[in-house]
Amino acid sequence: MSTFQPAPNPSIAEAQAAPAPGRAHVLVIGNEKGGSGKSTTALHIAVALLNDGAKVATLDLDARQGTLGRYVENREAFARRKGVDLPMPVHAAVPLSTLSDRAEAQADERARLEAALEQVIDTVDFVIVDTPGSDTYLSRLAHTWADTLLTPLNDSFIDLDLLARVDPDTLKIVRPSIYAEAVWKQRQLRAVQGGRPVDWVVMRNRLSSLAARNKRDMGTAIEALAKRIGFRIAAGLSERVIYKELFLTGLTLLDLKRGGPKRGDGGPSLTLSHVAARQEVRDLVAALNLPRRDAAAPLAEPAREPATGDPQSAG
Ligand SMILES: Nc1ncnc2c1ncn2[C@@H]1O[C@H](COP(=O)(O)OP(=O)(O)OP(=O)(O)O)[C@@H](O)[C@H]1O
Ligand SMILES: [Mg+2]
Repeated sequence: MSTFQPAPNPSIAEAQAAPAPGRAHVLVIGNEKGGSGKSTTALHIAVALLNDGAKVATLDLDARQGTLGRYVENREAFARRKGVDLPMPVHAAVPLSTLSDRAEAQADERARLEAALEQVIDTVDFVIVDTPGSDTYLSRLAHTWADTLLTPLNDSFIDLDLLARVDPDTLKIVRPSIYAEAVWKQRQLRAVQGGRPVDWVVMRNRLSSLAARNKRDMGTAIEALAKRIGFRIAAGLSERVIYKELFLTGLTLLDLKRGGPKRGDGGPSLTLSHVAARQEVRDLVAALNLPRRDAAAPLAEPAREPATGDPQSAG
């Protein structure tokens, strides 16, 4: 029988208690459902924070797939090739243990994760941890380090199923499911260890530009779930081809304005749709309400893009 009890909804004030001075804020990007946009979101947030003058480390716990590591490598290669100066995170990966004994492998992974975090936790402002789209010991361990946990969720009831069982007729939450239960356990563990409560934020990803029924129904279900298990909802990212294209150059939407990578020098050209997309990324980062290391105050509301009218065909 499940021992799951819904966590009390932490008040926002409680979840955003002042950060420990001199210690990086840890943002874990997690969802045990594969392909929800974790790695893409991780680099976009990293670059947004770097552009804001913060020191950022990225940690890839999905070293086998290595998407975030490859994204960062592509970025370094692009900057070299084109002679442009791109802000870079300090990147590291924590591979799975090769030890065959389960307890030894877990101890090994714990030691590797702690060593990787110790390398950066006192020297950067933010550590962004990208986790695999599956249930691993390493990933669950990383969740206990999260000051903020960001869960990107594709706009599909298949993806929501990992967070909650939903009644098909009423769209009411029948019960939270495995990932929500795992987060609840990690929250308890963190509380026992005396850590600050995690601020859990769920963002919807790959939102269609059409006002489809599915989009509305997902919204209803997520709002009900947010109250039930205690997370905040951030405005998400739309479905746009540009997110798939940028990987090869290691660029993010936030780099396209920087003068370097433009049409003709190998980077994607900046379109009106990208301007609107970039604003979505900035809004997401603002919604995370991350602290500043020096002032212990949330990052300032980012500058708004000039109104452009988002073309229907997001590119
Ligand atoms: N907003 C978006 N619009 C269009 N495509 C997107 C968007 N976000 C992510 N993608 C695409 O979806 C796929 C999965 O994205 P990504 O690799 O970031 O997800 P992930 O959660 O890290 O996956 P995994 O669980 O396998 O690590 C990629 O092809 C990526 O380009
Ligand atoms: Mg990934």
